[in-house]
Amino acid sequence: MKKKAIELLLAAAMVTTMLAGCGNGGGGDAAPSSGNEAEADADADAADDAADDAADAEADDAADDAADAEADDAADDTTDDAAAGGDMADKKVGVCIYQFSDNFMTLFRGELENYLVSQGFAKENITIVDGQNDQATQTGQIDNFIAEGVDVLIINPVNSSSAETITDKVMDAGIPLVYINREPEEDEEKRWQDNGWDVTYVGCDARQSGTFQGEMIVDLGMDKVDLNGDGKIQYIMVEGDPENVDAQYRTEFSVKALTDAGLEVDCLTDQVGNWQQAEAQQIVANALGQYGEDIEVVFCNNDSMALGALQAIEAAGRVVGTDIYLVGVDALSEALENVISGKMSGTVFNDHFAQSHSAADAAIRFINGEKNEYYIGCDYVKVTQDNAQEILDMVK
Ligand code: BGC
Repeated sequence: MKKKAIELLLAAAMVTTMLAGCGNGGGGDAAPSSGNEAEADADADAADDAADDAADAEADDAADDAADAEADDAADDTTDDAAAGGDMADKKVGVCIYQFSDNFMTLFRGELENYLVSQGFAKENITIVDGQNDQATQTGQIDNFIAEGVDVLIINPVNSSSAETITDKVMDAGIPLVYINREPEEDEEKRWQDNGWDVTYVGCDARQSGTFQGEMIVDLGMDKVDLNGDGKIQYIMVEGDPENVDAQYRTEFSVKALTDAGLEVDCLTDQVGNWQQAEAQQIVANALGQYGEDIEVVFCNNDSMALGALQAIEAAGRVVGTDIYLVGVDALSEALENVISGKMSGTVFNDHFAQSHSAADAAIRFINGEKNEYYIGCDYVKVTQDNAQEILDMVK
């Protein structure tokens, strides 16, 4: 199984990209909306690299690879010799999740716990807590883990911008730290390197997922997607948490894939749905009420919101694949079933197996006194009707 982590350009990783929004995407220029030119160039290069990586492994190949292997194989791939150096049975792991009700993080934490146990940790020594989307709550939980003297912390921050404070207190306590899913800012990651701290970040490069979303729309062809025949793609964007780089990059790079392919775009509205199905349903219902048949494409930063968008689309009597197109990210089971039946145009597999295993492996290496890279990446997989069943068989 091709689940090897890719090292994407750390130097360019975190341009402070503001939400692309309609202002940026609508003009067909999807360059980062802030940051100096050098950063913007680096950002574009990194995006190209991500797209190249993606192109290298054809979506089909990746899907085949993915489907060929059971989750166990993935575990083998990512295990390396991480656990070989020590007995984990008495080691304590503290895991902070930003919000248990998040569908993707639910998959992630379940797999993380299973994998830690498979690597020799005792279940009672793994404590996973719910930050309830409140940084103060999470900070208190981190204080408790420090007081308890855990051997390693795995943290999915509520606010990425709180990473500096979190890192400082965890380093003061002499505990190694693995951030997951919500990438801290570039300056913060640089501090880990400059100080030689035992801190790393594990996640996928969200630029790649955005690029894949846009490419799936491009691949459908203008004939199909340009329903009103005006030579432009009219779209609406439903964004996740605006503080989260995954939301920022997916918003920007989905549209960039269209403009890179030479298509003209017209952003009708761009709104924040906070990764939540219900919020997205409301946003898309309102947008359908306001823009009606003008909407050709609905981009959602994740599948939970795409499921909400689909409810609104169906309630408005519109039919995905016929008179509107809809893409998400994550490859939740329900979304995959919708891709198979044609109710969604596509999604992107956000590999919670690879990410949780890499996070656990990094934690084990720290416990064993070894070092980690400061950024541990992974690949997304494009999911269309062609490979959705294979992905579903793997994630189920
Ligand atoms: C996922 C979202 C999730 C978010 C949480 C993203 O990578 O695609 O579904 O809500 O992470 O931070």
